[in-house]
Amino acid sequence: MKPVKVGICGLGTVGGGTFNVLKRNAEEIARRAGRGIEVAQIAARRPNPKCETGSTPITADIFDVANNPEIDVVIELIGGYTLAHELVLKAIENGKHVVTANKALIAVHGNEIFAKAREKGVIVAFEAAVAGGIPVIKAIREGLAANRINWLAGIINGTGNFILTEMREKGRAFADVLKEAQALGYAEADPTFDVEGIDAAHKLTILASIAFGIPLQFDKAYTEGITQLTTADVNYAEALGYRIKHLGVARRTDKGIELRVHPTLIPADRLIANVNGVMNAVMVNGDAAGSTLFYGAGAGMEPTASSVVADLVDVVRAMTADPENRVPHLAFQPDALSDHPILPIDACESAYYLRIQAKDHPGVLAQVATILSERGINIESIMQMEVEEHDGLVPMILVTHRVLESRIIEAIAALEALDDVVGNVVRIRVEQLN
Ligand code: HSE
Repeated sequence: MKPVKVGICGLGTVGGGTFNVLKRNAEEIARRAGRGIEVAQIAARRPNPKCETGSTPITADIFDVANNPEIDVVIELIGGYTLAHELVLKAIENGKHVVTANKALIAVHGNEIFAKAREKGVIVAFEAAVAGGIPVIKAIREGLAANRINWLAGIINGTGNFILTEMREKGRAFADVLKEAQALGYAEADPTFDVEGIDAAHKLTILASIAFGIPLQFDKAYTEGITQLTTADVNYAEALGYRIKHLGVARRTDKGIELRVHPTLIPADRLIANVNGVMNAVMVNGDAAGSTLFYGAGAGMEPTASSVVADLVDVVRAMTADPENRVPHLAFQPDALSDHPILPIDACESAYYLRIQAKDHPGVLAQVATILSERGINIESIMQMEVEEHDGLVPMILVTHRVLESRIIEAIAALEALDDVVGNVVRIRVEQLN
C-alpha cells in the first residue's frame, strides 16, 4: 500500500521531535499503522538544528501544506489561536485529517473545529495537547469508556510544578525559579499562561469534556495562579502533612460540573503529591475502575512527539473506516453531549487551608472559632505558631472540612473584619483525592 503523506507545520521543539521520531522509528511505526508514513512537506520559517530534514521539501508558508493535494494529514505544531485556527480550518475544508498539539486552540475553538471536521468526515486528533507524552486522552476516551467518571485531578503544567517543587525543596523564591523554568524551555511563550493557570485550564477544559461528555467551555473554567504563594505557606502545609500543588480539578456533582485550576493542598502521602519537577500526572476516578493515575513528561521534544505520532498512527488506521465508526472527538457521540452546567466557583465545594495573622491577645482563637462555627464550617485541624519577631503577630493555621466556596468567602470577610486580625486571610483549597 502507498505510504500516507503528511505535512508538518512548525519545526520547533515538537515539530523537530515529530520529524525525528517518525524517521528513527519508521519501520516499527509502519508495522503498527499498516502503512508507511512519509513526511512529504514541512512548513517552517527557519531550520531546526536538532532535525536533519534532508531532501524533504520545505516551504515558509503553512498554507502551502494545507493546500497541497498530495498531503493526507496536516500536523499543526505552530501553536497560538489565530494562524493555527485558520490553518486547521483550511486543512479540514480541503478534506485533510489533522493532528495537533495545540491545547489553546482545542480548548477555545474545539467545538467549531470538530463540527467542521464532522461535516467533512475527517479526524482531528489532539493527544499531545494535554500532558505531553502521557497518553491520557486515549486512556480516558477509550480505556475508561465503561466508567461513569466522577472526578479527575491533574498536575498538568510542568513549569508551575517545577516552581513549586523548587520552592518546597530548596526554599527558593518564586521569581528566581521562574527564570530557570523558562531557561529549561518548558514555559509558554507568555509565561503568565503557566503561572496564572491558563495553560492548565486549557488542558483541564479538554479533559473534562472527554471525561463527562460536555462541550468545551474554557470560558467557564475558574483559574487561579501560583504567583501569590509564599514559602511560609509551603512550609506550614508541609508541617500539617500536605504538599501544595497547582492542580486542575474537574468534578461531577448533581448540580453541575466543577472546573477549576488553583493551588491545592494534597496529603503528602498521595502518589500525585510526589510528582515533582517538570513532570505531569493525572488522576482519574471512575465508578468501575476506581482511581487510576497517569504519570510522565508533560512537555519536551520527544515526549510530545510520542503523542503526535501515536495520533498519526490512529489516523492512518482509521482513514479507511466509516466516519460514524471512529472514536468520537470528545469521547461521546456528538449528538449525545450533555448540557450539565459548569458551576461558578462560589457554588463549588472544597476544604480550605486558612492562614490568619492575628495579634497576640487572649480570646482571638475563640473569636475565629465562633465565626467559623456560626457558618457551619467544621475545623479539621488548627495550628498556632509562635509570635513572629518582626511584626509581633501570631500566624494561625487552620484546615477546614469541605464547605461551599461562598460560605468560606463570607467567613473570611468576617475574620478580616476582626480588630485582632491583621491583613488578608490567606486561603488555599485542600483536596483529599480519596
Ligand atoms: N508550558 C507547558 C508546561 C508546556 O509547562 O507544562 C506543555 O504544555
